[in-house]
Formats: sequence, structure tokens, C-alpha cells
Amino acid sequence: MPEKRVVLKNCGIVNPISLESYIENDGFKALENAIKMTPTDVIEEIKRSGLRGRGGAGFPTGIKWEMTNKSVSDEKYVICNADEGEVGTFKDRYMIENDPFSLIEGVTIACYAVGAKKAYIYLRAEYNFLIGVLQNAIDQSSEYLKKADVEIEIFEGAGAYICGEESALIESIEGKRGEVRYRPPFPPTEGLWKKPTVIDNVETLMNIPRIMTESADWFSNMGTDRSKGTKVFSICGDVEKVGVYELVMGSPLRELVEGLAQAKDVKMVQIGGASGRIVPYENIDTPLSFETVLGAGGVMVFNSTRDVIEIVRMNAEFFEEESCGKCFPCREGTKRMLEIITRFAEHRAKPRDIKALEDLSETMMLSSLCGLGQAAPNSLMDTLKYYLSEYEMRIR
Ligand SMILES: Cc1cc2nc3c(=O)[nH]c(=O)nc-3n(C[C@H](O)[C@H](O)[C@H](O)COP(=O)(O)O)c2cc1C
Repeated sequence: MPEKRVVLKNCGIVNPISLESYIENDGFKALENAIKMTPTDVIEEIKRSGLRGRGGAGFPTGIKWEMTNKSVSDEKYVICNADEGEVGTFKDRYMIENDPFSLIEGVTIACYAVGAKKAYIYLRAEYNFLIGVLQNAIDQSSEYLKKADVEIEIFEGAGAYICGEESALIESIEGKRGEVRYRPPFPPTEGLWKKPTVIDNVETLMNIPRIMTESADWFSNMGTDRSKGTKVFSICGDVEKVGVYELVMGSPLRELVEGLAQAKDVKMVQIGGASGRIVPYENIDTPLSFETVLGAGGVMVFNSTRDVIEIVRMNAEFFEEESCGKCFPCREGTKRMLEIITRFAEHRAKPRDIKALEDLSETMMLSSLCGLGQAAPNSLMDTLKYYLSEYEMRIR
């Protein structure tokens, strides 16, 4: 099964610093189509397409837009989440670098649909080298932004993983410390500066011009029942061809790992970065969709020379460092998790440590305030299931 380039269709074809080149390749046709429609009709089209958020949670985009559109307020905002802090994930970076105009067009259509005049692109601190290409695209698109009465500003993050989480991201733009908010209220009713706000991932927004140029039916004909369209993946680790690939939703994981990335001697794959699920090699034919495994699309491949416990320990170290500390289960849980897993890594675990890890994981998953603490135990829980003997070997 070959790659299906829908979101990536312009990458390598359109000159990322030239509006003319973008226009020659159907650029801003989608916006022209959208502004001839009412905002409600645009939202209907996105709802009919079945598009779900590509930032990890998979929330239906059209519904989020509808909620924001219906919230009554003098001001509304659209935020493009380009924080991409998930370990081993670099698809948004690739898309911004190679096709910034599609992102600008997607953001503009989102603003038109929900009634926002101001949009922010929240850019990961480490991606500051993308500011030039992005700002150039914003500047060159000024005529189109004016047509939709939209202003777009780039906001640079400061290097915290938690600021990819939507409510912490909002706090960060408001100039506060990056910590999650208690919810409800959710951003579509009370977001940035307490105003209705849409937050969408880069890839989600880059799907919008495609849907508004082709059609909702064309889009929803691709993929599975509950996962429409394509998905962009970044793949790294023990592979021959590290890179960014786009596949129709529902494609088997093997196609990406052994086909496109040409990995050999695969032991396991982690899908969705450090917080993603572990797929052992025997399940390599798992379809990639929201129904199974997906996350934000960062795929890491590990071959038979890799130590499962060391991988889990490194993940735990990451979460311990990145927890914002607001809620107890995550603040304390990530610390204890690192302590216990380190005992395994150093061959000095106690028999009760396996049960302790299971109890701790369950507590964190059930009671953490946001996805960081809820998903931090994923690789631990999955490896306890698939590679229990590797843990048992390290009990003194
Ligand atoms: C700890 C944490 C980090 C996150 N980081 C990102 C990120 O870097 N980029 C992103 O788009 N979504 C990230 N998310 C998900 C966002 O909270 C939110 O669901 C997403 O931006 C919504 O956009 P979408 O509907 O287009 O996926 C993160 C969530 C959590 C819990």
C-alpha cells in the first residue's frame, strides 16, 4: 500500500516561501470557497467530513467549532497548537517547514467558521528556526487574511511539554506559569482571556483546506468507520528511513514500520511518543486508527538489542521532569514511578514492586488532572503486560 499524500500534498512541490507557488497549486481556493458559504455551513461540511483532532485526543473538529461558534461573545480566538513536545514526534515541524501556507489557510478558515478575528500559532520554543518561514507566509497572505478579517500572531513557547496541553497552553499565552486548568469550563466556552476559543493541532488545521477544496464526502470516503481521512506519522528509532509519512487511516502498522521506514529485527513499537502505547512485534499488523492506537503520530521503533526496562525508565524520567506539579497524583506519582522503575533498571527491585507499579499506574490514570499524568504509565502498563519476564528477571 503506497503513501497517500493529502495533508502533505504540497510538501516538496510548493515553494514554502512563495505565495505564487502556493496559488499555482490551488492555494487559497478553499478559503474562497469557505467565505462564499455561511460559517454554519462551513462547520456542517467539517462535521460531515468526520475530521477528528490530530493532536492526540481525537475530538471531532466540527463539533468543537460548532460549540465555539454558538458561544456568545464579543471576542473569540483560534489557537493553532504547534507545541509538538511529544518525544520522537516531528510531523508538525515538517509540515510547517514545507507548507506553511496551508496552515495559514486552515487557521483563517477556522477563524471565519467560529467568528474569531484573532489567531495565535503557539510554536514550540525549540522550533524558533521556523518563525521566518511562518511569518513570511503570514505576511505574504495578508490580502487573504484581510478578506476574512483575521489577524495571525506567532507566540513562542518557553520549552515546557505541559504547554502542549490546551489549558496550560492558554495559561502560557496569558503570561502565567504553564499549568493545567480545572475543567469545565472547556475552551469553546471559556478559553483564552476567558473568551470562547478553538485549539486545534497543526495537522488538523492543514486538513481543512483539503476538505474545503475537495469535499466532505471525498474526505470521509478515506479511512475507517470512526477514523476518516489520512494520518501523518513521524517515525524514528531503529529504522533505515527516518522520516514523515502519510497513510490512509486504518493502514496496518507493518506498512509504516517495515514498508516505508524499512525497519528490521523489530522488537516493539511505541506509538504516540513517550505517552503512547506499546505494540509488540506479534501485533505489527494492528491497524492505525483512533479505534486502536494513534496518539499524535510519533512512532518509535525498537529492535531486539533494546532493553525494555531502560526505555520505560527513560519515559518515566521525562514525565517526572515535565509534570507541572499542579495535581498530586501526577506530581508525586511520576516521582515514585521513576524511583521504582530505576530499581528494576539497576537489578535491585523487590517482589512487591510489580504490584506497586500497577497500583500507582491505576491511581495516576484515574485521578490525574490531565493527559500527562493519565498517560504517563502507558508504556509501563503495556510492557508489564507483554514483557513481564523482563521485569521479573530484575527482582533481587
Ligand atoms: C501533556 C499534553 C501535551 C500535549 N501536547 C500537544 C501538542 O504538543 N500538540 C497538540 O496539538 N496537542 C497536544 N496535546 C493535546 C491538546 O491538549 C489538545 O487536545 C489538542 O491541541 C487539540 O487539538 P486537536 O483537536 O486538533 O487534536 C497535549 C495534551 C497533553 C495532555
